[in-house]
Amino acid sequence: MIILGIETSCDETSASIIEGLANKVFLKSNIVSSSMETHIKTGGIIPENAAREQIKFIIPVIQDSLEKANTKLDDIDYLAVTYGPGLIGSLLVGVETVKTIAYVLNKPIIPVNHMLGHVYANFVTEDSKIKTKNPKLGSNNQEPGTNIQFPAIALVVSGGHTDLLLFKNHGEYKLLGGTRDDAAGEAFDKIGRLLNLAYPGGPEIEKAAKSGNPKRFRFPRPLIGSTDFDFSFSGLKTAVLRETQKIKSLDKQTTSDIALAAQDAIIDVLIKKTLKAAQKYDARSILISGGVAANQKLRDKLILNAKSQKLKAEIFVPQKSLCTDNAAMIATAAYFNQKPKSWNEVSVNPELYFDTK
Ligand code: KG4
Ligand code: ZN
Repeated sequence: MIILGIETSCDETSASIIEGLANKVFLKSNIVSSSMETHIKTGGIIPENAAREQIKFIIPVIQDSLEKANTKLDDIDYLAVTYGPGLIGSLLVGVETVKTIAYVLNKPIIPVNHMLGHVYANFVTEDSKIKTKNPKLGSNNQEPGTNIQFPAIALVVSGGHTDLLLFKNHGEYKLLGGTRDDAAGEAFDKIGRLLNLAYPGGPEIEKAAKSGNPKRFRFPRPLIGSTDFDFSFSGLKTAVLRETQKIKSLDKQTTSDIALAAQDAIIDVLIKKTLKAAQKYDARSILISGGVAANQKLRDKLILNAKSQKLKAEIFVPQKSLCTDNAAMIATAAYFNQKPKSWNEVSVNPELYFDTK
C-alpha cells in the first residue's frame, strides 16, 4: 500500500511517500521544508507568517516527494494528512490541498492526529533507529519499527505537548497524563529566550549545556514525586527567571551553567515519569517522540536509567530528523490506523487532543 502523507500543522511543510507491507513501513521519501528562518527573525512563530510560508512550499514539497520516490499521484492508494492539533492557517493549507487532490483523483483520505503521528515516527522501518545499549534488551542490528511490542508506553514531548500514553495496540491507547501548563519544548524555548539564545531554545540549550558546570545551579523538578503521570514546567521557567535577574551580566559560562541545570531538571522529570509508567503497566516497549526527543542527553539518560532499573521494556527512539515535524510519521500513523474518509468528510481541528479509548 502506498501512502502520500502531508504535514503542515505549524512551521514545517512536509510531504512523504511510504510503502506499507504487513507490519513494516518503508520510507520512499520525506521532504521537509522549514520556515524557521522567518520565525527566528521574530523570535517565535507568528501564525499568519507560518500559514503564508506553508502556501509557498506545499506544492513544491509534494512534487519533490513524488519525484524522489519515483512515484506518480496515480500510484497512491491513500492520502494522509494532519488535521490537528496545530495552527489553523497552517493546518488549512495541508488539509485543503489534500482534499483537492482526493476530489480530483478520487482517492480516500486518512486524517491523522499530529500527536499520534509523533509516536509513529518510531514505526518507520527504514529510517528509524533502535538505540539500546543493553544487549538483553535487543541488539543494534534489529530492524527498527518491526520489533515494537505492546503494551508500549509513549512519551510525546514537543513544543506544544508533553503527554504519556499507554498503547495496548495500534489505535488502542489511553492518556496517562500530560502537562498542566507549559510543554517541555515550550519550557526549553522560554528558558532559551531568558538566556538570550536563538529560537528554538531546545537545540540551543542542548548545545550551551555541553560546557556547563553541573555544580553551580540546581532547579526544582516539578511533580517528580507525584503519584500521577502529570507534568508541570512553568515553575521551572520562573525559577530560571529569578536566577537570571540576580545575575548582572549573563556571560557565556553562566549561560551554559544555567542551560545545563534547566535541561537536567526537564529531563529528570520526563525520565522518572516515563519509567514509572513502564513499570506500572509492565510495558514491553518505551517509545519517545516529538522535537524534545532529539535531545541526546534525554535519550542517553533514559536508556541508562532503564538499564539500572532492570526494566524489561525495550527503548525506541526515532532518527533525530523524524523527531521534529515531518510527513513520514503522519503517513506511517495512517498506515497502522486506517480509517479512510471521503474528501468532504475531512476538516481541520486546531484544538484536537487525544481521542483516547
Ligand atoms: O515536535 P516539534 O518539532 O513541533 C511541535 O509539534 O511542537 O517540537 C519542537 C520543539 C521545540 O520546542 C524545540 O525547542 C524542541 O522541540 N527541541 C528540542 C531539541 N530539538 C528540538 N528540545 C530539546 N533538545 C533538542 N535537541
Ligand atoms: Zn510536532
